[in-house]
Amino acid sequence: MRVMLRTLVLVVLLAPALVPLQACAEQASAQREAAAAGATQPPGTAIASAHALATDAGLEIIAAGGNAFDAAVAVSATLSVVEPISSGLGGGGFFLLHDARSGRDVFVDARETAPAAATPEVYLDAEGNLDRDRSVNGPWSAGIPGLPAALVHVAEKYGRLPLKQSLAPAIRIARDGFPVYGRMARGYAARREVMERYPGTRAVFLADGDTVEEGELFRQPDLARTLERLAGHGFDGFYRGETARLLLDGVRAEGGRWTAEELAGYRVREREPLRFEYDGWQIVTAPPPSSGGVALAQMLQVLAPWDLAKLPEAERVHLTVEAMRRAYRDRTFYLGDPDFVDVPVGILADPAYAAGLRASINPDRATPSDIFSGRPTPLEDEETTHFSIIDADGNRVAATQTVNLLFGSGLVAPGTGFLLNNEMDDFALKAGTPNAFGVMGFDANAPEPGKRMLSSMTPTFISSPDRVAVLGTPGGSRIITMVLLGILGYADGLSAQQVAALPRFHHQWMPDAVSIEKNALAPETVAALRAMGHTVDVPGEEVAGGRRSSDSWGNLQTVSWDRRANTLEGGTDPRNPVGKVGIRPAR
Ligand code: GLY
Repeated sequence: MRVMLRTLVLVVLLAPALVPLQACAEQASAQREAAAAGATQPPGTAIASAHALATDAGLEIIAAGGNAFDAAVAVSATLSVVEPISSGLGGGGFFLLHDARSGRDVFVDARETAPAAATPEVYLDAEGNLDRDRSVNGPWSAGIPGLPAALVHVAEKYGRLPLKQSLAPAIRIARDGFPVYGRMARGYAARREVMERYPGTRAVFLADGDTVEEGELFRQPDLARTLERLAGHGFDGFYRGETARLLLDGVRAEGGRWTAEELAGYRVREREPLRFEYDGWQIVTAPPPSSGGVALAQMLQVLAPWDLAKLPEAERVHLTVEAMRRAYRDRTFYLGDPDFVDVPVGILADPAYAAGLRASINPDRATPSDIFSGRPTPLEDEETTHFSIIDADGNRVAATQTVNLLFGSGLVAPGTGFLLNNEMDDFALKAGTPNAFGVMGFDANAPEPGKRMLSSMTPTFISSPDRVAVLGTPGGSRIITMVLLGILGYADGLSAQQVAALPRFHHQWMPDAVSIEKNALAPETVAALRAMGHTVDVPGEEVAGGRRSSDSWGNLQTVSWDRRANTLEGGTDPRNPVGKVGIRPAR
């Protein structure tokens, strides 16, 4: 820790004035965009999301005269209905918007906030250890939801259509039902014990007296009514009145403590996105309380001097892993909610700092991460969802939303129809103790009343004079490295679908191991990495501590616009069979 602080102090002394640098970068980006030789407007709308019904809802709203922001409200709300496993009204999210009219990028932060009663002591057992059941299950695991406020904010400030109209597809699908798909049925089976603890959850998921089965029609009448109250009354239709009352009663009945003031006081924050350049591409991405943008800036700027595509696979993966390792180490110590802690973004995202990190990489050997002894817990199931939109006016939306782990806290407040998140586990509830994703944190990410927990969600835009792309994915702490690999894929000229399908590898500093998807790397590459000193977790192989890498991860959804050919394309992750790219030509 002392060594890192010294490095930071040195960089502060050496770094040129950072704020003017950022302003110049923004100006240069605007000029480059304006100077692009290709088309100035896309030929239609492209939407990629993790569920066909959500993509179709977005296209329906575009056909009704809406813009990308109205479509985003429709897609987001529909995902909340058809993917309760991943996100919902009881959760939060980040919406990165590009408003073509003003040329402005804005980051709408709808992350959940900590209730005042959720002090660190609440999460410790009698021995002072982290009580994992409390941190991921039931009322204490839930933060105050942010997603409904984002839907209202995006519709009212950026949309063309009334909220009522944009929410109509989600209300219809909640009322009439949709067929349960394999991932949802498997997720339910995995979380069944927790889901069946709570009467409100049983009323939704066991409404027919039976467990959730693939292929059955899943109707959510309470959720339809909750959405109708939101559609009819906006912010007050969720954070005050009937829905708020049901939420407060439901949380209290299970032993939690939320107040009416905390609900009514929830606000989204509009933040400046983080920007930087990589290999001729402008990257616009998530600022804190996401750790994603800072880590991306660090990793890409560390990697910038190497022509990665031309390197042998083992060398390319080694260098990329070393960049990942360093960025995730800094995530552990410095990242948190910028409304509560000073996050040194200007330093961490500065090219001079990246140069220092690069200089510490040995091209032939893995750098050990073992500042701390022992291995954090395994990566567990990961959920969350992402969608990407470009419309015919050139507006863009990259949105990642979540209830955290599978089905969030497992708790539905009776009558509301939606699951509450278990996002409190994304705080460093006990300093230095890993959370469900195996990532740790310290003071910067300690819980405080009203504070937003650190996230890895990384909705991102990238643009060059030739091409614009929107991308993001779920995947817990692995989100950031998936977005990194996606950006590198676009920079290598891959199509949107190829980017969504890219094989994945990941390193997060601790545990000090490279996890890879099944068959993501050639056996010779794995052998070469091991010879350099890397621990590589190969799916199917037993590893020390009984830990195994999962076979595959992520659910990346991306759209891209080729300005020279003036064509739109999308990529939906082949790991998820129910995702869909929809393209609607402009009239
Ligand atoms: N809940 C996952 C994340 O926000 O990183």
